[in-house]
Amino acid sequence: MTLGGRMQELHLLCWVVLLGLGQACPEPCDCGEKYGFQIADCAYRDLEAVPSGFPANVTTLSLSANQLPSLPEGAFREVPLLQSLWLAHNEIRTVAAGALAPLGNLKSLDLSHNLISDFAWGDLHNLSALQLLKMDSNELTFIPQDAFRSLRALRSLQLNHNRLHTLAEGTFTPLTALSHLQINDNPFDCTCGIMWFKTWALTTAVSIPEQDNITCTSPQVLKGTPLNRLLPLPCSTPSVRLTYQPSQDGAELRPGFVLALHCDVDGQPAPQLHWHIQTPGSTVEIASPNVGADGRALPGALAASSRPRFQAFANGSLLIPEFGKLEEGTYSCLATNELGSAESSVNVALATPGEGGEDALGHRFRGKGTEGKGCYTVDNEVQPSGPEDNVVIIYLSRTGGSEAAAAKGVPGQQPAGLLLLGQPPLLLLLLLASF
Ligand SMILES: *[C@@H]1O[C@H](CO)[C@@H](O)[C@H](O)[C@H]1NC(C)=O
Ligand SMILES: *[C@@H]1O[C@H](CO)[C@@H](O)[C@H](O)[C@H]1NC(C)=O
Ligand SMILES: *[C@@H]1O[C@H](CO)[C@@H](O)[C@H](O)[C@H]1NC(C)=O
Ligand SMILES: *[C@@H]1O[C@H](CO)[C@@H](O)[C@H](O)[C@H]1NC(C)=O
Repeated sequence: MTLGGRMQELHLLCWVVLLGLGQACPEPCDCGEKYGFQIADCAYRDLEAVPSGFPANVTTLSLSANQLPSLPEGAFREVPLLQSLWLAHNEIRTVAAGALAPLGNLKSLDLSHNLISDFAWGDLHNLSALQLLKMDSNELTFIPQDAFRSLRALRSLQLNHNRLHTLAEGTFTPLTALSHLQINDNPFDCTCGIMWFKTWALTTAVSIPEQDNITCTSPQVLKGTPLNRLLPLPCSTPSVRLTYQPSQDGAELRPGFVLALHCDVDGQPAPQLHWHIQTPGSTVEIASPNVGADGRALPGALAASSRPRFQAFANGSLLIPEFGKLEEGTYSCLATNELGSAESSVNVALATPGEGGEDALGHRFRGKGTEGKGCYTVDNEVQPSGPEDNVVIIYLSRTGGSEAAAAKGVPGQQPAGLLLLGQPPLLLLLLLASF
């Protein structure tokens, strides 16, 4: 062949490529039109990435049975008109935020038989046309409570064979068009948190086939029990009460005394306790307990010393062994179980009788000595603007006496020692005897 002939052939090739642009199709795929749908078939191609070069009007894309390891952001940017996307039987572990969100016309999405543990649930908020969502046989461990909030057209949801331990109450409530749900074969933890689902499943109009296959994996005694046969459990949301106790009974309060706060918690199942401490200089978060019964840091607890500055015991007590100016601040205890959480706070400030001061929140107060009774009371100068500004605790102290330092609430309250604090957060004023 002459050189000229070759050039001509090349030109021809170029023209074919250019003309073909409208009908472009990624090399490994087959594109075509059927029943008015523009279909791109890339199934069974050993693909390790979503190919590029699709016609912009593709409405059906099959990438099933490939080796895609993930779906990155913008993976389907080229095909915003997609209505059906088939991705079953790949090796997808991660679906990144922004991978699916542009597909606002999507009606069917099949992600089953992958390894997805990391899923961009937020992207579903943009898929308001979705009617079918298949995510069976993946490694999903949880579903955010609001994951399905925009899927008002969804008719069928398949979540069989994942690693779901629980379901947040109300997860399926936004799915007003749902007619079919499959959620078999997940390792459900049959505690209070899932009881709502049993009730919902028994009463909903949604078809949930093979309900006997929705079973408990834990606790051990319920292993294998279908959710729909669970007996009612005693369940309650947490409640907390904060009480405090000054240092050793019978001792005067001197700087460096031990302050004990006690977080009295109720709730079923037993709530997890967490302390949040806000001092002027720092914020401290403590997952309770951080010390053993002997006050020594638990192995694994992030403590600078073997005897932490704030000792959170498993019984709900928080001891602050060297209470001083640096420890002034707001102490909050938060109790959480699978049904909810509750919090109570106390604002602790030190004052010297007769002098007053300012607490960590900047509230000014004045100490007032009424020594005739062998005790001091404190007036809070802050006008209560709500329950949170109330000074509820008055610390009573006497100098030099052998009698115990006593604690007392506002007029005629509990005996010395333990005080009950009402609504959070309260201001706890500790009056130090002047020395
Ligand atoms: C998609 O676009 C191609 C060319 O750009 C056109 O031939 C085809 O008819 C279109 N298909 C649909 C379903 O609109
Ligand atoms: C959501 O979908 C619409 C089309 O329905 C699109 O215009 C928008 O960009 C999408 N949002 C994101 C974050 O991709
Ligand atoms: C339901 O459980 C039975 C017994 O374990 C099993 O044979 C059947 O395949 C299960 N069905 C589904 C859809 O998982
Ligand atoms: C909790 O345990 C600690 C350490 O054993 C103890 O000092 C504290 O008094 C206990 N609290 C209550 C309320 O029993």
